[in-house]
Amino acid sequence: MTQNCFYITTPIYYVNARPHLGHAYSTVMADIERRFHRMLGKETFFLTGTDEHGDKIVQAARDHGIEPKEYADRISAEFRAAWPLLGVEPDRFIRTTDPDHVETVRRVLSQVRDRGDIEFREYEGLYCFGCERFYLERELVDGRCPDHGTIPSLIREKNYFFLMSRYQDWLVEHILNNPGFITPERYRNEVLSFLREPLEDLCISRPTTRLSWGIPLPFDENFVTYVWFDALINYLTGIGYPNGERFERLWSVAEHIIAKDILKPHGIYWPTMLRSLGLAPPRRIHVHGYWRMGEQKMSKSLGNVVGPGELVSAFGVDATRYCLAREMVFGLDAGFSEESFRTRINAELANDLGNLVSRTLAMVVKYRGGAVPAPAGPEGVEAVLPKAVSSLIPAWKRDMEAFAVHRALQGISEVVNMANKVIDSSAPWVLARDPAKAETLDRVLYALLETLRILSILVHPVMPGSSARIRQALGLRDQEEPRLSDARWGLLSPTGRISPMPGLFPRIEVHTGEGGEAKQKRKKVNTMEERHQTPEGTQAENLIPIETFAQLDLRVAEILAAERIPNADRLLKLTVRCPEERTIVAGIAEFFAPEELIGRQVIVVANLKPVTLKGVTSQGMLLAAKDANGLHLSALSSPAVPGTRIK
Ligand code: MSP
Repeated sequence: MTQNCFYITTPIYYVNARPHLGHAYSTVMADIERRFHRMLGKETFFLTGTDEHGDKIVQAARDHGIEPKEYADRISAEFRAAWPLLGVEPDRFIRTTDPDHVETVRRVLSQVRDRGDIEFREYEGLYCFGCERFYLERELVDGRCPDHGTIPSLIREKNYFFLMSRYQDWLVEHILNNPGFITPERYRNEVLSFLREPLEDLCISRPTTRLSWGIPLPFDENFVTYVWFDALINYLTGIGYPNGERFERLWSVAEHIIAKDILKPHGIYWPTMLRSLGLAPPRRIHVHGYWRMGEQKMSKSLGNVVGPGELVSAFGVDATRYCLAREMVFGLDAGFSEESFRTRINAELANDLGNLVSRTLAMVVKYRGGAVPAPAGPEGVEAVLPKAVSSLIPAWKRDMEAFAVHRALQGISEVVNMANKVIDSSAPWVLARDPAKAETLDRVLYALLETLRILSILVHPVMPGSSARIRQALGLRDQEEPRLSDARWGLLSPTGRISPMPGLFPRIEVHTGEGGEAKQKRKKVNTMEERHQTPEGTQAENLIPIETFAQLDLRVAEILAAERIPNADRLLKLTVRCPEERTIVAGIAEFFAPEELIGRQVIVVANLKPVTLKGVTSQGMLLAAKDANGLHLSALSSPAVPGTRIK
């Protein structure tokens, strides 16, 4: 029964910092994985929240001149509000100040004590206030805290200790017997190497004389619980430990997502705490790397953070989720740059997937009145698609199961590119002109629609909104969320109606004029850049960086119609396909008669701000060269598919 359940958690975030891209990554990955497992038909539970006790929070509240609880309420609310912006839907947002959590922590402490695993001892050690923990000499770097660079204070006090060392051998055994327990493998090795040294017992209390913002120990009110002992237990509180059916069903399938900074508490403290409680360790711990800004980890203390709201307003929800999942190889560090997000969105979403969707739907509407064609006749170039899709599905599933979402998305991109090539090589617009080719056209369109339908299922966990829009355009309004069992070739119903859908993923522009949303985007983009970019060497004045060129959207356009504009001797109104139809007003009437332009291919700039000339709005510009002999239109050496980007 439990095999049919999936329980995923993120770290609970400290409320001394506002949510940023680092937190967003862990949380979006959890949301992606939960959606994936729900597509497999499982019962799922997704827990995230905030970690609110301890010195750090007291300090941050003091800096703001308010009480810790009031401060925690404020920042916790920011985290709670950030996740819907990113399309993240947790089942519970837990706070360590929630009454049920406080109760669970006290219960766990009593249980562990009853097991004889807690001892009161005098201890002298090197304590880092930033980390809120004691350090061993050998863990310090040049005598300083490896995280804060500060010299720890020598503290001598009586405290309660969890006898973690008792479980060292068991833990080593567990890790060795369960290769998938901590992944990727490098982090498993890191924990194993740490466990080669004798494990110290864990100090789990702080005297209230030093810290009162915490959960009082149930057996000694002069102490509060160490923040990590408190925080880890959230994973149990969140599903109703110790009672409740949900806990029964879900604990054995618990999976944690964390970054490498908190590997030790999760890989060592947590399994031993659970062991003491008589509970199984979590099923898997998935450890990812850091998002960096330049050479540094993105973190509040370094002040180099980008917030989820900024990302979403610059790129959109689904595109942000896509970039987070696609840019970072799970387990390794990744550099954040707004430019790399933009380039990826424009290439893989706007140009590749977006164009595939809009071209396919537009052709079915145009050539078949929106009816799903019946698949028929012998196979042609489109036959590669069912084959590619059928091998993509199991590979995608394996990657998603292994949290290699970056690889799953790469596989999708490859099929998208293949489908775009099928359009280019089968040229449905040519087939449509010849009634004898009707069956061939049907076959091509059917294969493209089926590919889109299956892709809409596979992109769902990462881009739920876009998946729903594609599915709606395909006439699939049957269910809220797609199921993986529907990702089988040939299920597209011939009774369905297709509707057109241009602009699924708008290009992210940086060159815009006054006003409007685009400028808003540019503004956001600039704010991020201005804040984080290191100054570059001065460019020679008339040389432009390649990025500036990449901002130009140059495309192949086919002229479908051309006419003069009344009272404008030099202007022609052109209707071009690139691949959507648009109007361009061109100052070429002195050189070309309208009729000689029809059917010609030219190069256009497709991302110019529209201008209105003599009452006609022009959405782009034609490229041409004028010399003493007259005007020469830009051209390609051989016909290309309208809309193809010039790179
Ligand atoms: N409160 C503890 C976790 C307790 S879990 C029982 C904590 N909080 S934190 O606010 O510091 O969050 C750390 C986590 O935030 C990381 O493990 C990771 O999930 C995420 N990230 C914060 N900064 C990050 C990067 N720069 N890059 C990637 N993830 C990062 O530790």
